[in-house]
Amino acid sequence: MAIRFDEKDRTITLHTKNTTYQMKVGRYGHLLHLYYGRRLAADMSYLLTFYDRGFSANPYESRNDKTYSMDAIPQEYSCYGNGDFRCSAFEAADNDGVSGCDLRYAGHEVKKGRYAIPGLPAAHCEERASDTLVVRLVDERLPLMVELYYGVMEETDVITRAVCIKNTGKKPVTLTKIASAMLDFTDCRYDLLHFHGRHGNERMMERVPLMTGRMSVGSRRGVSSHQHNPFVILADRDATEDCGDCYGMSLLYSGNFLCEAERDQYSQTRLVMGIGSENFAAVLSGGEVFWTPEAALTYAQGFAALSWNFHRLVRENICRGAYRDARRPVLINNWEATYFDFTGEKIIEIAREAASLGVEMLVLDDGWFGTRDGENSGLGDWYVNEKKLGMSLNELASRIRATGMKFGLWIEPEAVSVDSDLYRAHRDWVLEIPGKKPVMGRNQLVLDFSRPEVVDHVFAQIAGVIAGADVSYIKMDMNRSITDVCTAADGRQNEGEVMHRYVLGVYRFLEMLLERFPHLLIEGCCGGGGRFDMGMLYYTPQIWCSDNTDAIERTAIQYGTSFGYPPCTMGAHVSAVPNHQTGRTASLETRAAVAMAGTFGYELDLNRISEAEKELVRGQIRAYKKYYDLVHRGRYFRLSDPAKQREFAAFEFAAEDGSAALVTVVTLTTHCNAPVSYVRLKGLKADALYRNEQEGGLYAGAALMYAGFPIPVVMQEYASFQWHFTEEKQEN
Ligand code: DGJ
Repeated sequence: MAIRFDEKDRTITLHTKNTTYQMKVGRYGHLLHLYYGRRLAADMSYLLTFYDRGFSANPYESRNDKTYSMDAIPQEYSCYGNGDFRCSAFEAADNDGVSGCDLRYAGHEVKKGRYAIPGLPAAHCEERASDTLVVRLVDERLPLMVELYYGVMEETDVITRAVCIKNTGKKPVTLTKIASAMLDFTDCRYDLLHFHGRHGNERMMERVPLMTGRMSVGSRRGVSSHQHNPFVILADRDATEDCGDCYGMSLLYSGNFLCEAERDQYSQTRLVMGIGSENFAAVLSGGEVFWTPEAALTYAQGFAALSWNFHRLVRENICRGAYRDARRPVLINNWEATYFDFTGEKIIEIAREAASLGVEMLVLDDGWFGTRDGENSGLGDWYVNEKKLGMSLNELASRIRATGMKFGLWIEPEAVSVDSDLYRAHRDWVLEIPGKKPVMGRNQLVLDFSRPEVVDHVFAQIAGVIAGADVSYIKMDMNRSITDVCTAADGRQNEGEVMHRYVLGVYRFLEMLLERFPHLLIEGCCGGGGRFDMGMLYYTPQIWCSDNTDAIERTAIQYGTSFGYPPCTMGAHVSAVPNHQTGRTASLETRAAVAMAGTFGYELDLNRISEAEKELVRGQIRAYKKYYDLVHRGRYFRLSDPAKQREFAAFEFAAEDGSAALVTVVTLTTHCNAPVSYVRLKGLKADALYRNEQEGGLYAGAALMYAGFPIPVVMQEYASFQWHFTEEKQEN
């Protein structure tokens, strides 16, 4: 059992293969945090220090002993009201609006296997590979049972956390902040790595030293957002890809979130992550229960190992269904080829050419339904526009299947156009504040997915289309931030809960889709990567990484994304040049080399490229299939850091056993008489020999890793190199 309770010291210890997590019931019943890090077998209670801290208050029981202050002692799940003035994990108020509580230990339980969270995504794994700890906390005044859940995934070195709160009284209690996880450290030697961005430029890694005070990232856009990602790393100041203490925290949630990092007055550190608390208020009636989303935590030495832990977690324990393991088809999407301007015949023309080059699925993007000939109308009317297509969707799908390809379809179920039959029939189904003009985004409104009847209606329409045309794949988009958060439904109308119930509605929609169509491959999308989080990955094993398809900019976007998410989750396509988002022209080889570091596809009309380029496309698809296992199951290594290397971007996929590696290098700048750069490989066997498939050379693993491989100097902008190294068996 990976969870141990020591009755004498009142410590609870969680072990994974390489890590240890320890907490303790303090002398007055508070749950204190002792340690998280490299695996060890010791009572870490000695780390707690007690000093008279002047202005730091003391629990009532220690009124004569000023050395015991919640303001200074590391805790498991801090609450507002017990004298701890650092950022809290939990805040609640009684029916009269009086907030403040003091949660104390009331028992714990250890269970075999994992817990489930009703209506919310949660990591899953076989019973024997995971144990659950539940620690119960209660308050003297508020009738609350707060249960802290810890899922211990030994093999993956991941600890998941979630919190379940029950109102055990009769009067309502209002929860105003309920984090999913909190981590306290008794020191402050950390940098915060977070992933910020904007539309078309998501998940740019930024590394900043913690300041004294609080730093926070989060979203109040209703989706996890392009701007910030619910995944952060706390790392030693000198941590690198290969060494140093690194702590990752990722929230399995696709709505408003808040992550706070605080360096306190005593130079200690606290990290808190959960549902966004701005404007949040969940009212719990007597007997009612509230579950927070799950957070996943991991500890590793170096960023590469940390990413590997989360990559395995996502691939094996978060993604589900047929496409967790099944090979994803190489697809062609018509969006950048046609935008809204297409007919059924045009789509078939694109499909035929693509099929002849080896593409396996055609995805019909926005514009096939209602009166959707542009951005201003039709959303919400999920019936096929046969006039525009010139045929039924079933006929179109059948003719595409006749080319040997599968058929996929774009949807945006949460959205509605003002110019739509749905809006005209159900004005009260949108999120809107009475008396206020709604804020518009892409000239569309947001349906009130906090209402089950709205979700059911949209689901029935879309399910009918999927069944009618035997659709194999869905790209589920969402193209605006959410504003005007107010429901017309009876009961609680406040923003506080509606936004969370909206997210639950989105998850219910996806769950129904998977239940009804278990073989459907769903790709998440939110104007590209605006909802790229572990919550969505529970339903959609791949997400369109960014609307920016420029191969050069994609190297940075995919670099940042890779810290927390495996390449097999990143939708990446070859598009036309000059690139539609940046105007840049990169070679077809370079565009493909970058797109191959994800779920590969094309996003252009292949009829419009030359015969020589078509031959290249054939070769690219063959290569992608050949390297598929390396890309989708291999260890991913970032070999360059955009902040340091301006000359090139490099990354590697290595087989888990070190027997092969695929290295990709993209040159970012050209110079006259340029110096030679070397790229150092990782994850190989030092004493093995490797053949470079492309240029034929034989190299020692140690040489490739310790001295590196020279990047050819070429007089070409945005050149790329893909080298496949395979172990050459040596005769004794
Ligand atoms: C935004 C997506 O990210 C694009 O790929 C495309 O599907 C458009 N929406 C369609 O409106």
